Amino acid sequence: MDTLLCGGVYENSTTLMTGASGSGKTIAALHFIMEGAKRGEKSLLIEFEESPDQLYRNAKSFGWDLEKYVKNGLVKIVCHYPADLKAEQYLKVIQDMVLTNKIKRVVLDSISDFQRIYNERKFRAFVIDLNTFLRMSDVTSVLTNTTSQILEVTEIAETHLATTTDNIVILKYVELGGRMHRLISVLKQRGSKHEKDLMEFEVTTETGIEILGPFRDVENLMSGSARRTRRIGEEKAERDFIQEAVAGRI
Ligand SMILES: Nc1ncnc2c1ncn2[C@@H]1O[C@H](COP(=O)(O)OP(=O)(O)O)[C@@H](O)[C@H]1O
Ligand SMILES: [Mg+2]
Repeated sequence: MDTLLCGGVYENSTTLMTGASGSGKTIAALHFIMEGAKRGEKSLLIEFEESPDQLYRNAKSFGWDLEKYVKNGLVKIVCHYPADLKAEQYLKVIQDMVLTNKIKRVVLDSISDFQRIYNERKFRAFVIDLNTFLRMSDVTSVLTNTTSQILEVTEIAETHLATTTDNIVILKYVELGGRMHRLISVLKQRGSKHEKDLMEFEVTTETGIEILGPFRDVENLMSGSARRTRRIGEEKAERDFIQEAVAGRI
């Protein structure tokens, strides 16, 4: 997860992580913060979807002692719902926290809560000012965005939210062969050629977010009607051939 979000050009950039409810955004964001804490980097987690106690429990099920990092000051959690403060006041709270605590990673889970509460003009200004501040302060940030399952990927890329962040990462469920799979893909990465493969990932209690590798021999993954381009029989024949070859029988 950290390689994905904090390796190379991702450092000191803003990433919009978008996906439907349950697609793994909060866990991915926690994973990103835990990796930072392990390296001694301070993080700010702005979280509306879960209370600190829920977050601690959630993190614990992945073996992450978030509470310890909150107690020793490596992680700060802010749970003020946007309705509590005006957009400018909220931005000031974030700026003060980042500067006073020398924060290196920020997660805002989710930006959709601001979108619901502020009018369009306020929201747009808030996102632009926030992204500008985070970039200038050498912070690596993840803003999560909750979408409906049916929203087309191209529609996300055209929203002003997407145009003001450096990178866009998409999390998605896909149904394939009668099973739900999890997909992660980089839709945009500013200033670099990026991994175009659609990767499969899992949420496991051992590792949190685990990238399994690219989906192979599948088409239409993003359109919602994914299908395999090779038949199971062909795959089995290939596996049998490899086994025979490895055993020296061919
Ligand atoms: N302890 C766990 N072990 C394995 N999978 C989990 C665990 N907790 C949550 N999940 C999986 O993670 C998903 C929820 O992820 P979450 O990050 O909360 O989604 P989002 O924030 O996008 O709504 C659920 O669909 C569930 O399958
Ligand atoms: Mg969530």
